Amino acid sequence: MSNTLLRGEIVYFIDDPAQKGEAAHIHHADGIIWIKDGKIHQCGDAATILPTLPSNHPMTHYPHHLILPGFIDAHVHYPQCDIIASHGEQLLTWLNKYTFPTEAKFTDYSHAEQVAAFFFTQALRNGTTSLASFCTSAPASVTAFFDLAQSHNMRVIGGKVMMDRHAPDYLRDETEQSYDDSAALIEKYHEKWRLHYGVTPRFAPTSTPRQMQLAGKLFQAYPGVYLQSHVAENLDEVTWVRELYPTARSYLDVYEEYGQLGRRSIMAHGIWLDETDRARLAATGTALAFCPTSNMFIGSGLFDLKAAQQHGIQVAMATDVGGGTSFSLLQTLAAGYNVLQLNNHQSFTAFQGFYQATLGAARALALADKIGSFTTGCEADLVVLDYQATPLLERRLQTCASLAERLFALMILGDDRAVAATWIMGRQVYARDISCLEN
Ligand code: GUN
Ligand code: ZN
Repeated sequence: MSNTLLRGEIVYFIDDPAQKGEAAHIHHADGIIWIKDGKIHQCGDAATILPTLPSNHPMTHYPHHLILPGFIDAHVHYPQCDIIASHGEQLLTWLNKYTFPTEAKFTDYSHAEQVAAFFFTQALRNGTTSLASFCTSAPASVTAFFDLAQSHNMRVIGGKVMMDRHAPDYLRDETEQSYDDSAALIEKYHEKWRLHYGVTPRFAPTSTPRQMQLAGKLFQAYPGVYLQSHVAENLDEVTWVRELYPTARSYLDVYEEYGQLGRRSIMAHGIWLDETDRARLAATGTALAFCPTSNMFIGSGLFDLKAAQQHGIQVAMATDVGGGTSFSLLQTLAAGYNVLQLNNHQSFTAFQGFYQATLGAARALALADKIGSFTTGCEADLVVLDYQATPLLERRLQTCASLAERLFALMILGDDRAVAATWIMGRQVYARDISCLEN
């Protein structure tokens, strides 16, 4: 049995700070994480754990660092790595001008593999250890995604985009074939290693009613399978959905009609929702992915976290690259803070933010028994943040009087430079430099 020991300041969540306040997090100013065979065996104060340890066992010590559960990105598009930061469009023209042409290249496995390799490297250097990604309509894009995720031993959700209308010929799939292709990929990858399949109707406008029905059927037919899509991101999109599905009560109602809401269904954005929609999201256990850098960059609108919380909707943070502008969940939290400031001065605390990037996301994705915290038995995926990553961060943190203030400065000022190391299943898979000490 392999034992791995890490020492440093540790924070993780056991509940939602919106409901439990300060009692929602656990903080060890000088803590130890004891990992056995890739899973958390014990996490506690160093003073308590040190006397119980196997003698002279090597320990990785991170002074001036903060150890958190690895970040979880609940909605991202790995094939869009190469169009991040493309200028000047809103959703529907952005899709046609940049997104669809870049996604066309993923019929070629070697291209898909090369982009996926870059994507996972970016995730790890940003401390992201789990993610839910769209692939493209080409099955090869899914194969490459899962092959790379498996090689990194990462817990991920991914799926073939289903889109049989309102897209260029080169990207559109065939309705019945999209079902068969998705089913074959589910059989091949779902719940193998740490991989999960997500049925992926791109969004209601690019699927015929028949394809929407088939996507719902897949979601219902295969136990444990996810469903990921977009809802109510942009006002022109909402108007278009109303024209395409005139009998639906709302955009969200289209997904409900086709059996696509429920536990393990993840809807990105959810900006232009009404109260009935929010009640349906909560009642069905459907999660919302909050994608603030994307929502600002594509000019979509301001997410209403308070309304989601009042209804009891599970909300997870997400980068939505390439609509989003950063792979960093720290930068995503900073953007989330700004968005919420602009939306009736909602005050997004650092505790709320880090919860939604770790345990909150794990709960939203029905994975909280496996990832998102340092509770005994969870998989030991973690990120080590450096309090001295930049001169500005180091200086600002010296004047912080509390953990809340330090976390807040980290989320506003931090980015990939703040990530000193990333660990997956108790193994270090990324180290920014050699600042950690063995003792
Ligand atoms: N809606 C449909 N497809 C997409 C996409 O690729 N990105 C975003 N942000 N919204 C979408
Ligand atoms: Zn998206």
